Amino acid sequence: MGGHIIHMKCDIGVGNTRVSQPRATRLFKTRSPEETYLLGLNLGRLLSRPAVIGLSGPLGAGKTLFARGIARGLGVEDYVKSPSFTFVHEHRGRLPMYLVDVYRLNDPSEAEDIGLCEILEEEAVVVIEWADKVSALMPQERIDVAMKWDAGDESSRDIVLTGHGYAFAGIVERVGRGDEPS
Ligand SMILES: Nc1ncnc2c1ncn2[C@@H]1O[C@H](COP(=O)(O)OP(=O)(O)O)[C@@H](O)[C@H]1O
Ligand SMILES: [Mg+2]
Repeated sequence: MGGHIIHMKCDIGVGNTRVSQPRATRLFKTRSPEETYLLGLNLGRLLSRPAVIGLSGPLGAGKTLFARGIARGLGVEDYVKSPSFTFVHEHRGRLPMYLVDVYRLNDPSEAEDIGLCEILEEEAVVVIEWADKVSALMPQERIDVAMKWDAGDESSRDIVLTGHGYAFAGIVERVGRGDEPS
């Protein structure tokens, strides 16, 4: 892996261009699957406009669980499951939500086959599992969620939220741990 040649590029993708813009980063530690779900839910509740959210971290890190929380926070009532085989699931909440899983893409250029550029331009919340595989396609303004897993501890996760751009930095600053279920 590494050194991919990108044959196509979404208009809004910035690849590795360095642009200075506001950014906010926060580290959360969760100690159970429920806490990860609730963190996602609290993020989802703060979303009232289109957003691209890139989830990264190894298999089993909790990406799908976090995405399920975001969906609930957006008012999605369907059961949300990982679209590993179909790449994309669409849900309806306060805003449309697309859950995309690019794990099975062999090369970022294949993103074209699943219509990722078009999805990224929708007036929707677009949540992408394994977003690091398509980093060159990600918009400059977005939220990144990096999930780390300490091998010595099965049930804890380090979750780093980074909001890029003024609006998303503001959202990341407002995410609470909020333990109240909804
Ligand atoms: N703190 C935690 N946060 C998230 N998941 C956890 C945590 N502790 C244990 N788990 C378990 O890890 C798994 C995460 O699965 P999933 O969300 O499908 O991961 P991914 O989509 O990253 O592959 C679940 O089986 C969940 O019960
Ligand atoms: Mg998953």
